Amino acid sequence: MVDFFMGKSAYIHTFGCQMNVHDTEKMTGILEEQGYSRADSPSNADLVIFNTCSIRQKAEQKFYSELGRMKSLKEKKPWMKIAVAGCIAQQEGKNILKRAPHVDFVFGTQNIHTLKNIASASFERVAVHVNPDLATTELPVKRNDGIRAWTTIMYGCDNFCSYCVVPYTRGRERSRPSDTIYAEVSELAGRGYKEITLLGQNVNSYRSDTDFPGLLRKLDRLGGIARVRFVTSHPKDLSDDLIRAMSDLASVCNHIHLPLQSGSDAVLKQMNRRYSLSDYMKKISHLRKYIPGIAITTDIIAGFPGETDEDHQLTVSALKQIEYDGIFAFKYSPRPFTKAAEMDGHVQDLLKADRLNEILMLQDAITFQKNEALVGTVQEILIEGESETNSEKLTGRTGSNKIVTLPKACSRKGAIIHVEITKSRRHSLEGTPVIT
Ligand code: 5AD
Ligand code: SF4
Repeated sequence: MVDFFMGKSAYIHTFGCQMNVHDTEKMTGILEEQGYSRADSPSNADLVIFNTCSIRQKAEQKFYSELGRMKSLKEKKPWMKIAVAGCIAQQEGKNILKRAPHVDFVFGTQNIHTLKNIASASFERVAVHVNPDLATTELPVKRNDGIRAWTTIMYGCDNFCSYCVVPYTRGRERSRPSDTIYAEVSELAGRGYKEITLLGQNVNSYRSDTDFPGLLRKLDRLGGIARVRFVTSHPKDLSDDLIRAMSDLASVCNHIHLPLQSGSDAVLKQMNRRYSLSDYMKKISHLRKYIPGIAITTDIIAGFPGETDEDHQLTVSALKQIEYDGIFAFKYSPRPFTKAAEMDGHVQDLLKADRLNEILMLQDAITFQKNEALVGTVQEILIEGESETNSEKLTGRTGSNKIVTLPKACSRKGAIIHVEITKSRRHSLEGTPVIT
């Protein structure tokens, strides 16, 4: 309940990836400790925080246009404070204060802990955006779902793929100690959480007192969590030992997100991905051999600088050959500080759009076929709650991360049940429970 007399309220607008969504949970945890309640819109908030994303230009533009809208609101409510957090904050720092006079605070991805000072004191306009020493400070986390939770296992990225801004916005790789992760997951298990997603820009280069397969084994021994997922894996670091761990451990879901980016070796080299298509294909065949029914998803970039029609066709043929369960595909977007932004041969936007379209249409057909093939099979699903689009239905997910809807009377949130798939749709499945 909102307490109008005692505390202040805050609204957080989150852009971007799961890492940002999880950072918002950390911000919410800090705000709650400071006595803030949650506002349901900027117009009734004392503090508005934008947790920003800079992975592509589009995300950045969306944020700046939302920020622009705050100007007139602030004129009406001059006491309202506006903070900019996340990747754009880390990247731009003080420049945001210059560019947008209605912004009060800027704090980067490495400085979430400073929100405590911002929320508790009413100090002058500040930008705190680089403070790597404190980057792994443990923060309170306010989670909502009750069934599925995220936990960060490592921060940052050292890979410097030539198109990617993440090493600049999230800094160098740092892994959390496995005991700290274990304690957090065990506490979540005690509170009834059923599924944990381990987050990191490149989880399989996790390295502390153990490596990533070691961490998975340790969490599996904990016993209290039915499902463990992880994102994102880099193909070059996907070891045989990880495949073995995925195959051996009952808690680890049979799904991997393994970004290919391009099917052309020439483009992969320019991207600094450090694998060839054939290296990648070998890993795919190992995964499929040792982990039956594994779902594989990927990311693709269309129109990287210098990408020829032939290169693009190599991506198309890789998609046909691999038959992913799903993909995220994007037009290449030049990013500050990155090598690719300085490269020759930038592809015209219309051509990028055509290539992206071809990729998406092809994948749509493949995804649909894959879903069709599941009709009549029995799948184990974790019920996540009421369907967002139909309140008469429940929605759940298979271990392979496919969404299944089923009649409401059949089960309840948090249950793990077997269902027979009765129908396939473009992006989801329908099922009915079976007694096993
Ligand atoms: N342009 C387009 N897509 C990008 N990605 C990362 N940087 C860019 C960029 N500059 C995509 C990659 C990555 C995903 C998270 O975002 O495919 O895997
Ligand atoms: Fe970006 Fe590459 Fe690091 Fe992924 S591995 S975050 S694409 S630099």
